[in-house]
Amino acid sequence: MKKQLVFATNNNHKLEEVRDILGDSYQILSLKDIHCLEDIPETADTLEGNALLKAQYVKTHYGLDCFADDTGLEVTALNNAPGVYSARYAGEAKDAKANLRKVLKELEGKDDYSARFRTVVALIKDGKESLFEGVVNGEIIREERGTAGFGYDPVFIPQGYSKTFAELGAEIKNTISHRAEAVNKLKQFLYEK
Ligand code: IMP
Repeated sequence: MKKQLVFATNNNHKLEEVRDILGDSYQILSLKDIHCLEDIPETADTLEGNALLKAQYVKTHYGLDCFADDTGLEVTALNNAPGVYSARYAGEAKDAKANLRKVLKELEGKDDYSARFRTVVALIKDGKESLFEGVVNGEIIREERGTAGFGYDPVFIPQGYSKTFAELGAEIKNTISHRAEAVNKLKQFLYEK
């Protein structure tokens, strides 16, 4: 029987990305799969802190080994904002389009459009905590392009490409993205054991 591991998310895009990468050896369960309907508090002021909070919540309340991710878009000219506040940059409604437009608005008149996505994955397994980081550098563009992906994908062009993540689609995004890098490190760790 496949080993089970909870991924503390209900974001179907992330779930698919991560299931794609982790392959067949693990059955990855979402929060919905374990009947966790809570909106797990993300009250830390770092990506590492929030990823750990989510993984610890599942371990404490459900007793299951678990990993969680937290991602931030860090825009150089905005002093690395929205960063850990990427989900609620335009308010508590966590409206992805409003967040994206706020970034474009804040960047008006600036010369430097460089940015990066940074993901931290926190794993709690066999009583031990481990952290894995992934980063992708790139730049923000002034108008939205593409329909794949989610969040800030339509305005982010990864370095070495001329299309946004939303234009490149899942297949390419999953080989080069911040989350892919962090999850590949997680995979290596899990498979080494
Ligand atoms: P979280 O990791 O789900 O807390 O994500 C924080 C914010 O970053 C949310 O607004 C997401 O929409 C956005 N985000 C997370 N991962 C990605 C990504 O791969 N592409 C674009 N936006 C993302």
